[in-house]
Amino acid sequence: HSSGSESEPEEEPSSSEEEEEEEQKQGSEKSPARAVSAAGRAEGAVGQAGAEQPPAAPSAPAAQAAPSRAPCQPAVFVAVDRSPEIQEARLKLPILAEEQVIMEAINENPIVIICGETGSGKTTQVPQFLYEAGYASSGGAIGITEPRRVAAVSMSQRVAKEMNLSHRVVSYQIRYEGNVTDETRIKFMTDGVLLKEIQKDFLLSKYKVIIIDEAHERSMYTDILIGLLSRIVPLRQKKGLPLKLIIMSATLRVEDFTDNTRLFSVKPPVIQVDARQFPVTVHFNKKTPLDDYSGECFRKVCKIHRMLPAGGILVFLTGQAEVHSLCRRLRKAFPYQKNNTAGGEGDKEDSVEEIRKFKKSRKRRKVLALPKIDLNNYSVVPVDEGDEDRDIDSDDDAAGSDLDLDLGDGDSEEDEKSDSSLPLYVLPLYSLLAPEKQEKVFRAPPPGTRLCVVATNVAETSLTIPGIKYVVDCGKVKQRFYDRITGVSSFRVTWISQASANQRAGRAGRTEPGHCYRLYSSAVFMDFEKFSAPEITKRPVEDLILQMKALNIEKVINFPFPTPPPTEALAAAEELLIALGALKEPPVTGRLKQQLAAKLSCPISALGRVMATFPVAPRYAKMLALSRQHNCLPYSITIVSAMTVRELFEELDRPAVSEEEAAQLKGKRARFLQMQKVWAGQGPMQKLGDLMVMLGAVGACEYAGCTPRFCQESGLRHKAMLEVRRLRGQLTTAVNSVCTDAGLYVDPKMKPPTEAQVTYLRQIVLAGLGDHVARRVQAEELLDDKWKNAYKTALLEDPVFIHPSSVLFRELPEFVVYQEIVETTKLYMKGVSAVEPEWIPALLPPYCHFGKPLEDPPPSYCPGTGRVRCHRPSVFYRVGWQLPAVEVD
Ligand code: CDP
Ligand code: MG
Repeated sequence: HSSGSESEPEEEPSSSEEEEEEEQKQGSEKSPARAVSAAGRAEGAVGQAGAEQPPAAPSAPAAQAAPSRAPCQPAVFVAVDRSPEIQEARLKLPILAEEQVIMEAINENPIVIICGETGSGKTTQVPQFLYEAGYASSGGAIGITEPRRVAAVSMSQRVAKEMNLSHRVVSYQIRYEGNVTDETRIKFMTDGVLLKEIQKDFLLSKYKVIIIDEAHERSMYTDILIGLLSRIVPLRQKKGLPLKLIIMSATLRVEDFTDNTRLFSVKPPVIQVDARQFPVTVHFNKKTPLDDYSGECFRKVCKIHRMLPAGGILVFLTGQAEVHSLCRRLRKAFPYQKNNTAGGEGDKEDSVEEIRKFKKSRKRRKVLALPKIDLNNYSVVPVDEGDEDRDIDSDDDAAGSDLDLDLGDGDSEEDEKSDSSLPLYVLPLYSLLAPEKQEKVFRAPPPGTRLCVVATNVAETSLTIPGIKYVVDCGKVKQRFYDRITGVSSFRVTWISQASANQRAGRAGRTEPGHCYRLYSSAVFMDFEKFSAPEITKRPVEDLILQMKALNIEKVINFPFPTPPPTEALAAAEELLIALGALKEPPVTGRLKQQLAAKLSCPISALGRVMATFPVAPRYAKMLALSRQHNCLPYSITIVSAMTVRELFEELDRPAVSEEEAAQLKGKRARFLQMQKVWAGQGPMQKLGDLMVMLGAVGACEYAGCTPRFCQESGLRHKAMLEVRRLRGQLTTAVNSVCTDAGLYVDPKMKPPTEAQVTYLRQIVLAGLGDHVARRVQAEELLDDKWKNAYKTALLEDPVFIHPSSVLFRELPEFVVYQEIVETTKLYMKGVSAVEPEWIPALLPPYCHFGKPLEDPPPSYCPGTGRVRCHRPSVFYRVGWQLPAVEVD
């Protein structure tokens, strides 16, 4: 191999070892990826199931085919008027060659799986095939689900354009907005939106076809939809209104769907779309940069741009903030002067201000177009910036070194300044970017420039950018991460899986042979997981279980999950939901085993139904459900929003790097305190603790118009505040849709709550966070010094403490509830509020068994750790409290 071969990447470069392995894995039945000339037509339809069961042949299994064919094979063919350019572009897509095979398979089978490399045309073309074949005529609609909002919006626009149809016909619906009309025939939506629709109409009668896209991502809602649809499809067949289900995946790894007899009694045919993929040479870094992968990306892009032949560059980073900062740096280094052409845009094009405007306009549209909210997304959009990296291997790596195109590991700071190279046409891409800006990445860059797209992993499989020849992969992704101890979610930057790394590399070989630069060593790569585990196995499932119970799926344990969550996770979820009153508790009869079985099939309660309508975690949903009393709703909506959006406050106690900063921090602290005083008052108000601080911060901030300046001066994070505002609006809409008579309007400028309201709010918080009660160990109970000022919780054996940032840090009330526990040097409770002891038996009867705790308490489960803990024998028993004389029924 020539090591310094940067000048001739067009010649057939050899793949790295990893690439070849990948080819072998995937290529057993079909032509290897590099054999482009084989055109792939002949063996295109050979699916995994092909050997035993030729999927598309007219003699497909009668069991599947017979009942569906007659009524569902539409006779009408609908003409579509496409422009010549579009038609030409379409004909280049590998999936076009498979149209007939695909349509025959769909006509003859109720369920079909389509696998094909990213960019082969699945998402944009399959809905068009179906439309043309008449599946959307005579009132039926074609529904397509996407795990990512950005894909739903962008793909609906693309398909509308390709088909020359209006957005009234090809529409989208995501959590915050949509443009669906009565005329809609092709509807792109997020998976959560369809789940919500199933709650309203279990048979999904308005659809003739449902396409589950990006099934390889294994998002929790996609998994659950596949399980539900495996039952809906036969039901529709029985009714004589057949529904077609198409599952689309970017990888061949679909055994969880095909080989799962609980899911599909007849194995669905798998159609493999031949990947017209060009070889990609993979280059590993010799060393893995310790933390500054963003800087490393910058240096790599600079070198590619200066030294390598024409071709677009795609950079994978982890978050919006990183994307923007790299875009700025690159634009500065290789300025692209707009010369008043339509394509020209300056640096400010996607400034924070613009994004804010966009978010605002989205919100406004939502109010008009979507009077009711949906539960599409179980959490808010991640606030920016990831935590620091995990441990990193920085070994020298021989295997990678001779493949490296001598771009070396960056060293110079001179890169930063402007350069005489060709201008670089730098575009950001991430999920919250306004659709019209996303659209830009699909257009050719202005002449005389090189395209450089800086993206989050939306560019990994959801969107295919044309003309990419070089991929720079930082190897990281921002992921939702579930706290080992509390199950509370946060976003962290972690290593990607090998499958993701290979997907990213593949982006470089769409139109010609390409190169992928991995900013990590091959030793690090070998340590990556092969595939990332399905989301459902990694997170607490109480919100999902509540949604399923709302669909009247009682025996959740029998549900045909493509990959079932651990039984302990299911048990813990039911346990929590019973305790919250969302499920009806079974009578205690029989043996413990029978009791446990009964507990795993509890029906939903009326309260549970109300809770299920709120797009927040069940604990918070319970708070909202209780808050109509005493006009507490605006406040609890605010508290819940603030608790859901993380990191509202700047860290004001951080050590300052300069005197100037120290003075600034001091000023901010003073203003923060003052703001608290004015808003939250003194005395009883303070017992709401940190939640009062949140309420006060949001209240004060809204009075000041939520300006960046106010936030900056008072130590609030402006972005988080905007997020809180958006969520408040959304929860208000949700509440309004439940209590239709309320007509509740949340004034962003709410008045401070009265003293009585604060007391009610504390009780509401206790009712929601019941399993998070903690009691301070009293002096006479002190076992040893490590318990000094410590609290005992119902969930953990170890001492926990009030976090120093808490307003109750010095107060040390006997009983508190906490939002979460974080582990640093000690276990700390955050989001703490004080509780009066006598409220506990009155408000949390499910937690108060006054008898002896069960010998063998039902286990509960801490996701991700395999760690089992005791959930709910008795809070009192667990925290060692002597019962007061309180009457409880
Ligand atoms: O779904 P799959 O990954 O198989 O491919 P696709 O998303 O349907 O994309 C097919 C082709 O359409 C790609 O080459 C994209 O670059 C192109 N496309 C485009 O030019 N403009 C869009 N807005 C969306 C896709
Ligand atoms: Mg796609």
